[in-house]
Amino acid sequence: MEKQKEVVVSGLRPTGLLHLGNYFGALRNYVRMQEDYDCYFFVADWHSLTTHPDTKSLGENVRRVLAENIACGLDPEKVCLYLQSSVPEIAELYLYLNMLAYKGELEKTTTFKDKVRQQPENINAGLLTYPVLMTADIIIHRALYVPVGKDQEQHLEMARNYAQRFNHRYGELFPEPQAYNFGQELIKIPSLDGTGKMSKSENQFATIYLADDDDLIRKKVMKAKTDSGPLEKNSVKPDYIENLFQLMRLVSKSEIVHAFEKDFNECQIRYGDLKKQLADDIVSFISPIREKAVAIYSDTKYLKEVIQKGGENARERANETIRMARELIGLNYFS
Ligand code: TYM
Repeated sequence: MEKQKEVVVSGLRPTGLLHLGNYFGALRNYVRMQEDYDCYFFVADWHSLTTHPDTKSLGENVRRVLAENIACGLDPEKVCLYLQSSVPEIAELYLYLNMLAYKGELEKTTTFKDKVRQQPENINAGLLTYPVLMTADIIIHRALYVPVGKDQEQHLEMARNYAQRFNHRYGELFPEPQAYNFGQELIKIPSLDGTGKMSKSENQFATIYLADDDDLIRKKVMKAKTDSGPLEKNSVKPDYIENLFQLMRLVSKSEIVHAFEKDFNECQIRYGDLKKQLADDIVSFISPIREKAVAIYSDTKYLKEVIQKGGENARERANETIRMARELIGLNYFS
């Protein structure tokens, strides 16, 4: 008998254009996992409402995120690609999990505290229970692995707690999902100005988007913060320089990275040259993805077919889970 593949779930919010952080933190892993796992990847449109109540550009963002997912190498024939809002079973599971989530722990979540600071005028209950909805997204498919960047680590820890609490209260149903990055620790792609991470809706000049054209990429990289170079051999790199090397390790050939590392260690580095090389390598990496994404984005009929089929497949498994959850909770009064 063929061994059943392990289940993988992950999602991206359609709050803006995808960037190198999304690619290296999440998408690259999606693409690598699609061959060997039973993959469910979705656009987290409900989650985006917690921070972006104005839905004017939501439709366009959803189509773009889908096109960019496919342009990065996701094959909708191999994975289930769908919209969160196509699967109402997720909302039902979210409701059950909300009874197992406590106000105190939700208020302590780092992302919640950040959002309270960023949008004090809109501290809604959806924002508070964001990790609960995220748990529902994951365990609705009884997933084992969740490819995400470092910023989602705490959410995954909470997801394991909620899965455990459900199992403990009502009976064993959910595996405990693990955050996943191929062969290494979860990663965080820093922004080019050395403060914080690349982001869809903040720090836009210090974030490289998959839709940026070649000139814009070069401008952003050339503006990245540097200094006059190390004064002593083999010094520790300041954060903003280490960030540039981190990006270089992802997009440039290893001989090139080694040559610049050597120059740095010998106090011979010319940051202008490093940034020019980095810009060239990012351009070569991004331009084919950007061109594919433009073509896919304009094929609305294809995208519609993809999410229709994806939504149906996702609902099939979600429905199975909800039936079992209802039974364990004891909601089937007359059977
Ligand atoms: P979102 O949309 O902010 O980001 C999508 C994915 O990209 C990763 N990421 C990064 N990785 C490295 N460096 C960065 N600078 C960087 N910025 C973003 C994120 O870690 C994420 O993997 N809450 C999620 C969406 C979500 C979800 C889920 C994910 C909703 N439900 C269920 C997994 C499973 C989010 O806001 O991702």
